[in-house]
Formats: sequence, C-alpha cells, structure tokens
Amino acid sequence: MKIDFSKKDLLFLAPLAGYTDLPFRQVVKKFGVDVTVSEMISSNAFIHHSTKTLRMLEKAPNEDPYIVQIAGNSEETIKQAVLLLNDMDGIDGIDLNCGCPVPKVVNHGSGSSLLKDLPKMGRLIETIKKYSNKRYLSVKSRLGFESKYPKEIAKVVEQSGADWITLHGRTRSDKYKPDRIDYNSIADAKQAVSIPVVANGDINSLQKYKEVKEITGSDAVMIGRGAVGNPWIFYQIKNDLEVVKKDKIKEIILEHFNSMLEVYGDLGVAIFRKHLHTYSKNFPLASSFRDRVNRTNNRDIMRGYIEEFFS
Ligand SMILES: Cc1cc2nc3c(=O)[nH]c(=O)nc-3n(C[C@H](O)[C@H](O)[C@H](O)COP(=O)(O)O)c2cc1C
Repeated sequence: MKIDFSKKDLLFLAPLAGYTDLPFRQVVKKFGVDVTVSEMISSNAFIHHSTKTLRMLEKAPNEDPYIVQIAGNSEETIKQAVLLLNDMDGIDGIDLNCGCPVPKVVNHGSGSSLLKDLPKMGRLIETIKKYSNKRYLSVKSRLGFESKYPKEIAKVVEQSGADWITLHGRTRSDKYKPDRIDYNSIADAKQAVSIPVVANGDINSLQKYKEVKEITGSDAVMIGRGAVGNPWIFYQIKNDLEVVKKDKIKEIILEHFNSMLEVYGDLGVAIFRKHLHTYSKNFPLASSFRDRVNRTNNRDIMRGYIEEFFS
C-alpha cells in the first residue's frame, strides 16, 4: 500500500527490539498505526541466514505497508542483504538504521556510528537504492553522533535517494536522557530538505503529539515507548480524544491477547501476563487482578479475568 504523506495524522510505530513483536504490531496497526517497521536486523547476520533473523522478518497479514529495517557498515554486505530481501514478498520498503546507540552496534561501525562519516552513510543509502526492488527506501537517524548536524544528515539522506527520513531528536551521546530531547533540530532538518520528515522521540500523549507536530512541522510522527503499555495512544491521536473509553481499552487488550494466542499458542497466556501487569497499572484493584492472572495458564479463564477487570 502507498504511504500518503499528505495525510493528516500519519502515524508510524517505532521499531523497539524486544517489544514491537508481531502480535503488538498487529494490534496497533488495527487501531490507528499507518506504517509498521520490523525490529532492526543485522545485514551481516541476515546474509548468513540465521534462522532467528528470518523469524524477525515475519509480519502480520494486516501490516501493509511494512518496512524492514537493516543495519550494516559495508556496501557489499548491505548489497547482499538487499538482494535477499528482493526475493521476499510483502516487504514494501527498506529502512537503514543510522541511529542505534548501543555500543555493540556502534563498535561494529553500524547504527549511529555512520553519523561520524556522512559520505559513507550516503554510499550505503545509494547501495540500497541501486539494488532494492522495493517501493520505498528510508533512513532512521539521530541528530548527530556527539554534536548536532541534523540539516547535513537530512541533505545527505535526500541526495542519496531516500524517500523520507525519520529523526529521533537526540544525538548518540544523549542516549535516552529525558532532558536532551530537541524538537527544534528536527524542525531545522525539515526546513533543509524536500523529502518528508518523520519526527520521533518521547511522544507519549495526545498533547505531546500536537506539540511535536507544531514545533517540527513534520509530515508524520513515530511513536515507540509511548505505546508500550499504552497501545491505544494511536487510536487516541487518530480520533483526537482526550480520554480513551474503558470499552475501547478492553477491546484493544483482548485483541492483543487473541493475537498472542494466535502466534504463540497456549504459551501466549503466560507471555501475556507481563502486558496485563502494565495494562492494569493505574486501575483500581490492580494488585488482586495481577495475583489472579499470575495463577492461570488457561486461555478462557484469563480471557474471563480480562473481560471482568476492564469492564
Ligand atoms: C528497547 C528499545 C529498542 C529499540 N530498538 C530499535 C530498533 O531495533 N531499531 C531502531 O531504529 N530503533 C530502536 N529503538 C529506538 C526507537 O525506535 C526510538 O527511536 C526511540 O525509542 C525514541 O522514540 P520513543 O521515545 O517514541 O520511544 C529502540 C529503543 C528502545 C528503548
């Protein structure tokens, strides 16, 4: 499906390794997300056909458009990864990770490390452009490695042939420090290029969403941590709701539960407990609810508990 950047409230789900698994993506997609992105896959691991890597590419039927994110530091490895992706259906685009701050990834010369060498970053983007048969090519980046140079980054991304850039409003050195988020720098990047800019970082409420759109002038936003334990944020934004009704929350939680069972079978009951612990936070009598869900492995009993508690 085409991504329409002229659409009001275009919403992306951020890739969050370990959180945005297939059941989670399936649910948020149903309730307001426009574009989902896979967890980051290492192009090096991918070309060696690691089974785990291949599993990370599995998507839900409703994930359309679906973007696969790759990380890498060499033109040859990236080319090989792209050629493999070319043979796989159901992938609408490839996103190059230029933002990951994790030492293991940075020391390998991938992720945000590419921000230290913009010409090299540009060559990697051009490599994807040259070999990919997918509709879209995008880049997800931070504002810089140590200092901020968002305009330069955005220009290289545009000139190398990408269709849009997603900017997390921090540098690599900022890690995830709350006081370092900088939406003005995203606005600077937006001014410097004509490709769409997707703003990302710390959007965790309807009000924050409106504030970020206003400051950055971005074409879309991407939300990650603000959706964990709060997947109805997308529904809230799409419908401009100050408060999401309890009925809708229940519907979304049950949908998530069903999706977990579909993917993980009965094991999904136990895996879903951690989600129920988060979802029940701030509700009255949450601790006795947690106690009950901790003691069942039966899907019907668990469903009954959910129905009752969130009614
Ligand atoms: C646990 C975790 C895992 C992440 N995994 C990825 C990833 O695989 N690829 C990526 O580009 N960014 C990843 N990120 C960064 C997020 O996509 C996002 O840019 C960042 O969390 C800021 O947005 P947020 O405040 O909406 O979460 C991850 C962040 C966290 C906290």
